[in-house]
Amino acid sequence: MSKQDESLVFPVYRPRRLRANETVRRMVRETRLSVDNLIQPLFVIHGKGTRKEVPSMPGIFQLSIDHLGQEVREIQDLGIPAVILFGIPERKDETGSEAVRPDGVIPQAIRAIKDQAPDLLVITDVCLCEYTSHGHCGIVRNGEIVNDETVDVLAKEALAHARAGADMVAPSDMMDGRVAGIREALDEEGFSQVPIMSYAAKYASAFYAPFRDAAESTPQFGDRRSYQMDPPNVREALREVSLDIDEGADIVIVKPALAYLDVISAVRAEFDVPVAAYSVSGEYAMIKAAGRNGWIDETRVMMEVLGAIRRAGADMILTYAAKDAARALRG
Ligand code: PBG
Repeated sequence: MSKQDESLVFPVYRPRRLRANETVRRMVRETRLSVDNLIQPLFVIHGKGTRKEVPSMPGIFQLSIDHLGQEVREIQDLGIPAVILFGIPERKDETGSEAVRPDGVIPQAIRAIKDQAPDLLVITDVCLCEYTSHGHCGIVRNGEIVNDETVDVLAKEALAHARAGADMVAPSDMMDGRVAGIREALDEEGFSQVPIMSYAAKYASAFYAPFRDAAESTPQFGDRRSYQMDPPNVREALREVSLDIDEGADIVIVKPALAYLDVISAVRAEFDVPVAAYSVSGEYAMIKAAGRNGWIDETRVMMEVLGAIRRAGADMILTYAAKDAARALRG
C-alpha cells in the first residue's frame, strides 16, 4: 500500500470513517498513556507536621516525613509505579554536606516510604543544588563549579541513598563522568543491582523556576549554563546520551519535555535503552495557571501533553501531574 495509490484518495478513502466513535478511535489509537508510564516527584523536608503547598505548583507540597505515609499510600493505590524524591536539608552549606549523610532527609524518607508503601519503586534525585548554600549543583572553587571533585561527592550521595534502600538513583547535576563514578561506587559496595536513571540531556531551562521555589535551590550567583545544556542543541544531546549509556546509564532522561519533543524523538530513534522525559515544574505551572483562570480545560490539556510526550517516544514520564493523570485514566 503506497501513499500515492489512486484508490486511497477521496472519495474511495475517507479518513473520517475511523474517527466515527470512541470505540473505533480506541481501536486505531497509535500511542497510549498508561499509569505504568508515570513517575510522581515528591519534595521531602525535615521536621514534623509540614504539608506546605508550593505557591506556583498547586497540588504539590513540601512534605515532612510524617506526612509522607499518606501521600505514598495514595500514590500506590492509584497504581503509579514510582516516585522520585527531592530533599530539602536542615541546613545548607558550601559543600552540601547533608547530601551524603546516612541520616539525611532522603535516607529517612526512603525508609518511611518502604515501610508505608513497600510496592512503590523509590527513585532518588542525586544532586547537590538542594544542599548547597550557593544553590549550584556541585562544589564551587573560585566561582567555578568543579567537575571531578563533585563527581566524588555525588557518588557518595548515591551510595547513601542505596544504603537506605533506594531502588534507583537519578543523577541530575550534569557533571561529566558522574554516571561512571556512581556506577563504580555502587558496584564496589554491593549495589550492582541498583539501576541509574541519568538526566542525560538536561537543558539550562527557564522552565525550572517553580521547582527552585519548591526545593529552595535557586543559584545564589550566576546560572547553570556552564553545566546544563544549551537549549538550541540536539546533536549534543545525542552525544550526552551516548556517553551516559557507555558509562552505565540504564535509563536516560530528556528534560524538559514539552519544548524538547524533538530531542525525545531523536533519542528514541537513535538508542535502545528506555527513555524517560521530565515534564518539569514550569510546564505543570503553566497548565495549572491557565486552568485556574478558566482559559483551558486543565485535565484535557494535561492529558494531551502527556500523550504528546509518549508519541514523541518517551517510555516513561516524570510529571507533577502523575496523580491527576492516574485519576483521569481511571475515568
Ligand atoms: C536538580 C534538579 C532540578 C530539577 C530536577 N532536578 C533543578 C535545576 O536543575 O535547577 C528541575 C525539575 C523541575 O523543574 O521540575 N538539579
